[in-house]
Amino acid sequence: MKILTMNKIIEETTIDVCEPSDNAAVIYTTRQMSAQIGFNEAEQFLIAAAASELSTNIIRYAKKGVVVLRFIKKIISEQESSINITGIEITAKDSGCGISNVDQAMQEHFSTGNSLGLGLPSVKRIMDEFFIESSPENGTVVIATKWRE
Ligand SMILES: Nc1ncnc2c1ncn2[C@@H]1O[C@H](COP(=O)(O)OP(=O)(O)O)[C@@H](O)[C@H]1O
Ligand SMILES: [Mg+2]
Repeated sequence: MKILTMNKIIEETTIDVCEPSDNAAVIYTTRQMSAQIGFNEAEQFLIAAAASELSTNIIRYAKKGVVVLRFIKKIISEQESSINITGIEITAKDSGCGISNVDQAMQEHFSTGNSLGLGLPSVKRIMDEFFIESSPENGTVVIATKWRE
């Protein structure tokens, strides 16, 4: 039996981040898009918190970067039937110094910034899918997706 999966971008917003006040835009826009997708208020709050952790990291460790928010739809078809699921994909990308040890950075309470070290682990916990890639040459990219139940 053949299963076909297709991802579609319904809407996309890019937010440039370089100073702490840009976090407000990230939080506001993430909440708006989450509400539009149909996440409940508690979910909207958590997703916005995840986006804010990522933009905070960009500002603190890489100075500047972008947060891209996407309203996405996954279409899974199998023979005659198909189902749709919608979700939000948050991409945080910078060209900063990179993370020297990603496994270590993903541990709770690891921080090179003298803070709680809970940002990345909480983003991973809140969201359904989590991808991170980092190098000194290319900086850091995190892609985190949450699907609506
Ligand atoms: N965008 C980034 N660029 C470079 N280093 C980063 C970035 N994001 C996270 N890090 C590194 O990963 C560590 C863990 O991040 P995080 O879990 O958010 O905790 P905290 O920000 O409290 O240190 C940071 O201390 C930092 O060393
Ligand atoms: Mg952090």
